[in-house]
Amino acid sequence: MSMVPEPGILAAFEAAKGFMPADEGLALYAAAAEAGRLGLPLLEIGTYCGRSTILLADAARTAGVTALTVDHHRGSEEQQPGWDYHDPETVAPELGLMDTLPIFRRTLHRAGLEDHVVALVGRSPRIAALWAAPLALVFIDGGHTDEHATADYEGWAPHVAEGGLLVIHDVFPDPVDEFTGQAPHRIHQRALASGAFTDVSATGSLRVLRRTGAGI
Ligand SMILES: C[S@@+](CC[C@H](N)C(=O)[O-])C[C@H]1O[C@@H](n2cnc3c(N)ncnc32)[C@H](O)[C@@H]1O
Repeated sequence: MSMVPEPGILAAFEAAKGFMPADEGLALYAAAAEAGRLGLPLLEIGTYCGRSTILLADAARTAGVTALTVDHHRGSEEQQPGWDYHDPETVAPELGLMDTLPIFRRTLHRAGLEDHVVALVGRSPRIAALWAAPLALVFIDGGHTDEHATADYEGWAPHVAEGGLLVIHDVFPDPVDEFTGQAPHRIHQRALASGAFTDVSATGSLRVLRRTGAGI
């Protein structure tokens, strides 16, 4: 199984709306390809327009598993009108609200990966509260406030199977580097302190950890 996406998948990733740089995307793909060997689903919190989902979907396709992606599709705080990461094309004019779901669906369709993804549309903690199945990989890239990042960690990290991977985006240990706050850094520290996770790799702001212990 390749740990690197084919050129067509990489091109689809780079063409998709979103913020993840290529080096972090390659690290996410390698983690997803490795975790997929467990034969369990891969889950992402923070679909946005599907940029990172393309990578999880292709790794899932290769491994014969399903990629799941969670988002309410109304955008995070820093993506709302007037904020630095706002994209006017993500607003549904008739609603006056962000709606990234149609863009995500087009992105996935164009990449030919629709059959490998289940989109879960709603608030992450509400979905996590209903969840019971073990997961090969959990990728946390949802809301970046302490409230949201903590809820994502507490709601989803317990579902990472033994030997599976927890991936956290936008981890900035140095406040000088931060642009959306240090909540992802704090959940990374919490995961390590729990004794349930061990660091595997760091690429840019992406951290990959392996589930090596029980209590979280
Ligand atoms: C940084 S973007 C995700 C970027 C995406 N992974 C990519 O690579 O392009 C964060 C996303 O998380 C979603 N989000 C934020 N808080 C959420 C919550 N509590 N439940 C569900 N989705 C949430 C937002 O709607 C937004 O689309």
